[in-house]
Amino acid sequence: MKRLHLIREEIRRQRAYPADAIPCQIKLDANENPFPLPEDLTGLFFSAVTREVALNRYPEAGSPALRRRFAARFGVAPDQVLLGNGSDELILALLIACGGPGKSVLIPTPTFAMYRICGLNLGCRICEVPLAAGGDLDLPAMLAALERERPVLTFLSYPNNPTGGCFNDDKIAALIEQAPGLVVVDEAYGPFSGRSFLPRLKAYDNLLILRTLSKVGLAAMRIGFLVGPPEIVAEIDKVRLPYNLNSVSQMAAGFYLDHEARFIAQTEEIVRERAGLWDALRKTAVVHPWPTDANFIFFTCDRDINQVYAALVKRGVLVKKFDASGNAPPAIRVTVGRREENEAFLKALRAGVATLGA
Ligand SMILES: Cc1ncc(COP(=O)(O)O)c(C=O)c1O
Repeated sequence: MKRLHLIREEIRRQRAYPADAIPCQIKLDANENPFPLPEDLTGLFFSAVTREVALNRYPEAGSPALRRRFAARFGVAPDQVLLGNGSDELILALLIACGGPGKSVLIPTPTFAMYRICGLNLGCRICEVPLAAGGDLDLPAMLAALERERPVLTFLSYPNNPTGGCFNDDKIAALIEQAPGLVVVDEAYGPFSGRSFLPRLKAYDNLLILRTLSKVGLAAMRIGFLVGPPEIVAEIDKVRLPYNLNSVSQMAAGFYLDHEARFIAQTEEIVRERAGLWDALRKTAVVHPWPTDANFIFFTCDRDINQVYAALVKRGVLVKKFDASGNAPPAIRVTVGRREENEAFLKALRAGVATLGA
């Protein structure tokens, strides 16, 4: 097609994000909360939408009321918080504001794919440093990359998607202290680890934190947060589209705070289920789960991962498959589901693995 040259080369070189649309009865591939909104809350939610959302009006630009409410929740000032259409949008906003051709972005590998994809889309140079064996940061290699590449942004997923563990806090602090650019600690899975860098925001002028409601029960609503120094947040805010958070999502974010205890109860249930699932995986022959602080488990297998994945799909279970990356061998990431889903997954995995040769 002769007009294709109009598309920038860095876009043409990329492949579209592979979101598996394989229909499976049991969906454990996207790190979602497996519990629906409780029935009483569903009723309340939809009656509030009917009452409060004017479909003919634009949403409130910049969501000022929500900024205030979530600032109080995060223990910061309202001008330190920005809301995004999912934290994905805020990753893109950060890269638009700081990145571009000739700018470097530092990430450990493997990690969340959007840092790389958004960075490449904007023409940034992506510097990937393999995680140390076991999944923690390779601090000397990361420090050397900071020195060599002078990245404008460093992204650290904490806990790390897909490997599951939280990086060592002292290593993260050392990176923040040494980084010439901004360091983004992405706490998408913070509710499952109970750990956060929010209390350290006061100590650094180059630390930014990402949060999301996607993993705690509101993935459909696309609500993310950026928290950081007010001067930086004000600059990122200029990149944000005026009506980035639609009116229903704004209402849902407020609804979350009104009923947070109910969402937290679900998160706690997931953390309890995680322990059982991890233990069962550890006891499964040829399967090796990595330690996790998130709502998913990354495991390797002494069998061909493509075949293990296919065996699961054949039995109606969708998980996420990862090619070897850095020091991490080919692996599967399974989201912690409801008890019956976890049991069905384990049954399918054991049956599937039993059919495969070493
Ligand atoms: C580490 C990490 N950050 C951010 C996101 C994006 O979340 P959101 O749904 O808020 O865009 C994800 C989603 O999987 C993630 O794993």
